[in-house]
Amino acid sequence: MSLLRLDKIISDMGFASRRDVKTLIKNGRVLLNGSPAPSGDIKCDPYKSIIEVKGERLIYRQYRYIMMNKPAGYICAARDSRERTVMELLDERSKRQKLFTVGRLDKDTEGLLIITNDGDYAHKIISPKSNIIKRYYAKVAGELGPEDILKVRSGLVLGDGTRCLPAELVILSSAVESECEIAISEGKYHQVKRMLASLGKPVTYLKRLSIGGLMLDDSLDLGASRELTEEERALTLLSALNGQIN
Ligand code: URA
Repeated sequence: MSLLRLDKIISDMGFASRRDVKTLIKNGRVLLNGSPAPSGDIKCDPYKSIIEVKGERLIYRQYRYIMMNKPAGYICAARDSRERTVMELLDERSKRQKLFTVGRLDKDTEGLLIITNDGDYAHKIISPKSNIIKRYYAKVAGELGPEDILKVRSGLVLGDGTRCLPAELVILSSAVESECEIAISEGKYHQVKRMLASLGKPVTYLKRLSIGGLMLDDSLDLGASRELTEEERALTLLSALNGQIN
């Protein structure tokens, strides 16, 4: 690992803003290898140096990969002047990091969302070339039948003439309000809602269940998040790679 400025390491890890780091260092609240850090511009190896900020050991991680169970009512954006964003649901340190969502879910959609600061990773997952399969649970108004399964499978044409790639629809229940799972390999704007609307079955509830091989951890409450395990991160990359091959 190359050497990085101490103030950058501390602000990148979300311990404080770059300006506040300066004050912390001036007040002797930052220890570098056991001694008060002389200044913020000193360079060190963030993995090997022992950095303590206000008595707490800093563990450096260049990249974050977070799984969130997104609740309805929050938009997928880094910040917004009017709407609440999913970033507001993260802990204070994460809020200070330059994180972004891997793709987007609509404001009223719930479920699996990945948040990261690794642009290459995000690109691999959302690139249309990766054809990564996203699975959703939906409630719709109206009865679903076998003809809907066939239409989805053969590639729907949306109201504006957009043609969708073949997708899979599984009917879980069919009544005045029906339940289904739908798996798509694209990420068009409002895609699932538009697909189901084109069948005459408007979506009343939508939740993302998986992205490639990565499943939503159902022990996460709505709004809660946790780091992806190394295996889960590898699984998402593998799904993206498989999609490119197939
Ligand atoms: N499709 C939609 O219509 N909305 C989402 O949030 C995700 C997929």
